[in-house]
Amino acid sequence: MPNDNQVLSREALQSRIDKLGRVPIAHLPTPLEFCPRLSEALGGSRIWMKRDDCTGLALGGNKTRQLEFIFAEARQQGADTIVVGAASQSNWCRQTAAAASKFGMQAVLILKHGIKGAAVQGNLLLDHLLGADITIVPGEDLQQLPPLLEERMELLKRQGRKPYLMNPFGLPTLSLAAVSYVNAFLELDDQLQQQGLEADHIYLAGANITPAGLALGAKALGRNTKVIGITPIRWDEDRCTDIARIANATAERLGLDVSFHPDEIYNEDAYVGERYGVMTPECHEALKLTARTEGIILDPVYTAKAMAGLIDHIRRKRISENETVVFLHTGGTPALFAYAEDFEMSAGRAVQEAATSGPT
Ligand SMILES: Cc1ncc(COP(=O)(O)O)c(C=O)c1O
Repeated sequence: MPNDNQVLSREALQSRIDKLGRVPIAHLPTPLEFCPRLSEALGGSRIWMKRDDCTGLALGGNKTRQLEFIFAEARQQGADTIVVGAASQSNWCRQTAAAASKFGMQAVLILKHGIKGAAVQGNLLLDHLLGADITIVPGEDLQQLPPLLEERMELLKRQGRKPYLMNPFGLPTLSLAAVSYVNAFLELDDQLQQQGLEADHIYLAGANITPAGLALGAKALGRNTKVIGITPIRWDEDRCTDIARIANATAERLGLDVSFHPDEIYNEDAYVGERYGVMTPECHEALKLTARTEGIILDPVYTAKAMAGLIDHIRRKRISENETVVFLHTGGTPALFAYAEDFEMSAGRAVQEAATSGPT
């Protein structure tokens, strides 16, 4: 099957993307930075970081790129309200609320409690500030959200609104959003070429849209870069099957003769820990190491778990010293502030450690 796939030039792929509606929101291109001290601390593989935490829009993250395509469609359909649901510390909802503000629309958020519940901190604090209409429902299973979102859609229609549904499980929403990460792959490919580099691996926190878009971008251009998603969450359905389906739907949207079998997708759930949103010791270590070697702040739910995966793969020699890795920083940093208590504990330990070891 892979041999049947069409390989496109960068210009040809870009022109397919440019045919779709898009509203400019993101600050692009995001920087591609070498991380020398992190690379050295981990024993040599060259680590670069693609800073999608710097996309702008209410503190940035991967959703900014995705919303450029989704809001173009919503506006084209004449929507005045955007309905979306996720966990209470959702970056997706925070950035959607910000885009709604930017375009004079109302964001309606149906949020599941999540591990941090209804505490008005981090992303939830920003949702309030952005003027979103917020409903928090008990339970943590995000897979129960779609009927609640449909119900709200019907209510809004009866009230004379023109709502647009961003269904977290709907292929039309997912594949439209994934186009933005085909575009991001093109952007990265250009930056790598300017540096005279080829990336052997791209590591990221990815559950569906973002790895699907990147994998499609790599395959459409015929690059050998392996896109390795580290999932922050376990769903009923295996991630590789879901990601392959989204990538295929995205390929169809772009008229690309490229397809994926789930076996061609790399996604690991070994770093989730107890469950979504609960920090692991490895995630703590990844946050600290990245902050203290590069001054770069990861988030506790997504990117630190992905970095924990990368660190582990380097230590286990799954990546060799002469390989080049791009770590995609997908943002999410506002959630850090909802995790202050989790940090205070380890900060206390750090103070104790410093006191017992004396000045260095
Ligand atoms: C910070 C961050 N990283 C990664 C992801 C995963 O992105 P995707 O669902 O597009 O794979 C999310 C999704 O919410 C996120 O907020």
